Amino acid sequence: MNKYIIGLVFFALCIIVACTDSSKPAAKEGDSCAKPVQDPNDVKPMALMMRSMANNCDSMRLKIMQGVVVDSMQYPLPPFWGAEPTDSSVLEQLFFDNANQIQQAYRTLMQNKDHQKENYTAVIQECIHCHSSYCSGPLRRIKKLPLDYKPE
Ligand code: HEC
Repeated sequence: MNKYIIGLVFFALCIIVACTDSSKPAAKEGDSCAKPVQDPNDVKPMALMMRSMANNCDSMRLKIMQGVVVDSMQYPLPPFWGAEPTDSSVLEQLFFDNANQIQQAYRTLMQNKDHQKENYTAVIQECIHCHSSYCSGPLRRIKKLPLDYKPE
């Protein structure tokens, strides 16, 4: 009888522990990427490309501020629009339209060497533009990327 009760208590404890563990806060509704707890072994290709773009922008920003010309050999734009996303519901017309716009802005940045400050700023505007619709988590980071460039 005693054994039976101890067994029952143990069983109940296990259930309590298991339940508390799975009650972590869920990802915010409508945020198509920024999960509070992301499995580091399951980062999707699109997210990886986004990370490398953000790192490239950090580095380009420093160079452009020093007046160094950046080029697409050193900083290629990864084709994130063809990569697997964390949340496949982002793959809709508006997303691809935004992806086209950043490709154009990026091309202008790389081709027009005389206005890199202005054109870099336009690229970052496209990051912000798409992220206002799709994945607002990284916006805080992205908003640190623009140059304090003012058109003359
Ligand atoms: C066309 C839309 C679009 C554009 C343009 C865009 N992003 Fe993203 N970004 C996304 C989506 C969607 C995700 C979520 C990807 C995923 O989780 O698979 C994302 C994720 C990210 C992340 C988080 C990656 C992670 O660690 O999980 C960062 C950082 C980021 N983007 C930075 C940028 C920067 C910097 C730019 C501009 C150079 C940019 N993004 C342009 C849609 C866009």
